[in-house]
Amino acid sequence: MCGIFGMIGANAVGNTLQALKYLEYRGYDSAGVAARVGDEIHIYKSAGRIQNLERLLPKGVESNIAIGHTRWATHGAVSTENAHPFYSPNKHFAVVHNGIIENYLTLKSQLSARGAKFSSQTDSETVAHLLQSNYSGNVLGTVLATANSLVGSFAIAVTSTYDSNLYAIKNKSPLVVGVSGKCVYLCSDIRCVSHWAEKVAVTPDETVVVVGDKGVYFFDFEGKMKEVSFFTTDAAEEMEQVDGDFMLKEIYEVPTKIRLAKEGYFKDGGLNIDSETVRRFTRIYLIGCGTAYNSGLQIAAVARKLIDIDILPVIASEFIYDSYPCGTDTLALFISQSGETADTIRAAEKVRKLGGYTYAVTNTKTSQLSFVCNKVANIYAGGEFAVASTKAYNCQLVTLLLLMLDIARIRQTLDDKVYAEIVDGLDALPMAIEQILSNSYEIATIAEKVKDSSAVFYIGRTCDYPTACEGSLKLKEISYIHSEAYPAGELKHGTLALMEKGVTVVAISTDGELKEKMSSSMNEVATRGADVVSVSPYTFQDALCITLPKVHTALYGIVSVVPLQLLAYYVAKRLGRDVDKPRNLAKSVTVE
Ligand code: G6P
Repeated sequence: MCGIFGMIGANAVGNTLQALKYLEYRGYDSAGVAARVGDEIHIYKSAGRIQNLERLLPKGVESNIAIGHTRWATHGAVSTENAHPFYSPNKHFAVVHNGIIENYLTLKSQLSARGAKFSSQTDSETVAHLLQSNYSGNVLGTVLATANSLVGSFAIAVTSTYDSNLYAIKNKSPLVVGVSGKCVYLCSDIRCVSHWAEKVAVTPDETVVVVGDKGVYFFDFEGKMKEVSFFTTDAAEEMEQVDGDFMLKEIYEVPTKIRLAKEGYFKDGGLNIDSETVRRFTRIYLIGCGTAYNSGLQIAAVARKLIDIDILPVIASEFIYDSYPCGTDTLALFISQSGETADTIRAAEKVRKLGGYTYAVTNTKTSQLSFVCNKVANIYAGGEFAVASTKAYNCQLVTLLLLMLDIARIRQTLDDKVYAEIVDGLDALPMAIEQILSNSYEIATIAEKVKDSSAVFYIGRTCDYPTACEGSLKLKEISYIHSEAYPAGELKHGTLALMEKGVTVVAISTDGELKEKMSSSMNEVATRGADVVSVSPYTFQDALCITLPKVHTALYGIVSVVPLQLLAYYVAKRLGRDVDKPRNLAKSVTVE
């Protein structure tokens, strides 16, 4: 949700543009660049995609200092006037911002009372005005004064004509600093900055960063110097551009990545919580948003059969404001691909405050969420850039399942034989998924029919219901077709009223014992005119069947979602949608 970049070094404008292309997954409502050219700051910005910005940037702008921004609109409509960067009124400062300035209305009215005129409806422009109004002849002092008057979440990059430094202010929104020789980079995403930098540092909250000729310095908001350590990273290999769609590439990576997720889990030492603490737990929460929540839903359904305590999946934004019981007997797993999702981080902070044990399950181990939690498990999915999450979901399931198995073993509710069957069963999954991928043309053919549906309902029972939720989420977010998921047995209590010609029902049925019940549900919708697609190791009459390979019953969720990811992809493609960047959405949602 908004990406910022800044750099000091050769070809600053060209590199900033390149970085914005990488960061575009964070928001694509508008983009802009500010470059120091001689004694001036030049700003180029445009609503819409990076290509629009690229078209208006003059060729070969010579600059050693530039900042850039990709926007996901929160305050103010999608327009060029609301695009970042923003000048201060005297054009001596320019800023880009990711996050929300919560007290911007108060600041704005104070500045307006002193005659300030604003050119946008954003909260971010306030920062540029504040910098001018706080200017005291010393830019660091000015930036510190500004930092102290802001409330909210922010990663802000600042350039000014008063000196040749680059400044940043960071609190609660991600900001990574990278160094390579004489070049220094500021960026929202570690993978992007690692593309250039040899060493990176993750900026802590309430920090002002100064980048200049003499190096990089970190200060707290009082102006006291802070020690922040740099480390080397190999994340650069993840930062790539593809010819086709990221989403399809990422689905095809599922077999490799789930293998890495399993290997990585054991390499990192497994659960890493002492047995006494594990035995003390009386409840486990699985907390996340969107796809991450669905992976919690799936693993809760599997783990309820293996562990003797309450296991509850909860949507992060609900957990924050509801009154779920929580104390020292609580383990809360926070699932987040990015580790940046504001709701999930707030929920983790709440559990910590209440004395619960917090455990991050994330694809970004240097993320904010990882710092908030007691423990971190890496899901090893590698960089995921399509807004619709795919491979991260499969990897979350692998890591979460392994965590649950370890808990069950410590609590002695799972015997060694079943444990070994499930863990060994994981090794068969890459091949099973390869088999589905090699038949993707069949799914593409089904997509041709599904694309004309007026609505698509996904149904399943127990462990298949979470898969239905994830399949439905994938379809609606990238195709814009109305879609809902239901436990199959619940259909007859309302949703059946919507069944008619033109509606498609996708039925997931992996449990042999529930096969007949699922068959009845399919008949009920088919007799009312709906088209039925089944996703199952079994075949069903009167349904278009997507056949799943047989795997261990505890592992079906990791496999059965793949045809649904492909189905959503092909439907969206056939409808001409931008599958990687669906309207109104962003990959990382850093605001509540
Ligand atoms: C956004 C993305 C979803 C993602 C959700 C949670 O809504 O568009 O794809 O599932 O955020 O993201 P997280 O990074 O916390 O897993």
